[in-house]
Amino acid sequence: MTKVVYVNGTYRRYSDALIHAEDRGFQFGDAIYEVCEVRDRAVVDEDRHMARLGRSLDELGIPAPMSTGAWQRVIQETIRRNRVKNGIVYLQVSRGAGPRNFLFDGVETPPTVVCLSRPQSRAGQEAIAEKGISIQSMPDNRWGRCDIKTVMLLPASLAKEQAKTTGAQEAWFVGEDGKVREGGSSNAWIISKDNELITPKATNEILRGITRTTLIDLIERDGLTLVERGFTIEEAQAAREAFITSATNLVMPVVEIDGRPVGNGHPGSTSVRLRESFHEVAQMRHLPATATA
Ligand code: PDD
Repeated sequence: MTKVVYVNGTYRRYSDALIHAEDRGFQFGDAIYEVCEVRDRAVVDEDRHMARLGRSLDELGIPAPMSTGAWQRVIQETIRRNRVKNGIVYLQVSRGAGPRNFLFDGVETPPTVVCLSRPQSRAGQEAIAEKGISIQSMPDNRWGRCDIKTVMLLPASLAKEQAKTTGAQEAWFVGEDGKVREGGSSNAWIISKDNELITPKATNEILRGITRTTLIDLIERDGLTLVERGFTIEEAQAAREAFITSATNLVMPVVEIDGRPVGNGHPGSTSVRLRESFHEVAQMRHLPATATA
């Protein structure tokens, strides 16, 4: 569990890690966040997560609370103080706190910054990946800027709860055009009968996942075919394979969509291979420079 949380410049015990009652993140969802995988005490794809965090802040006009170097020190120290070897690190930045006001005029503090880390069992995740997960689709009722990683996660939370009632582990949001956009907290992929890896284009309607981007690098490296386009639930159900990607799931095979099996109802071989490749890349990336030289 999390023992220590970084809050606005100090490391506090979990039970004492408090923020202001009039924080705009709390009142307006006026905050952004990142979730990164921690592997052997290092952050996987740290540069990309930092770049996306900077973009999210810019898009909302929240001033950057610290430099990238300072972020890296806070992240490392939070991981160290929580003794996390494998798990996640979570960063959140809100616009700050002050008397409630829809306009930004009420903000009286610098941005609120939180960083926490907790262990996550890799064996547990592998056991889930061996079975694969089920998806429940539902209409996308989120706002028009899903490309910004804000904490306005109520639609995603409700969708995932609804999916859970049907026995599914993830929700897929479907647009008015009948095309799958993304998951509640992951990007959506299928593999066609022609072995094309298909995922929706990164528009304002979806989050440009870091895992998605790294997987695209891998697909190009391995000479596989990537097609960025939407697909319907019917196409996904009839696909050879399906999977989701996120920092917490990596490449997670999907074996059932809206109660129908995908392929033979077991994780597909390409999804499994891509998951393994992702592990290799993640492991290579954080080796110290001396070890890779
Ligand atoms: N969610 N799409 C949405 C809506 C997400 O919330 C996420 C990540 C992704 C995948 O992004 P990435 O590969 O960078 O993790 C796509 C995180 C894990 C979360 O909210 O817990």
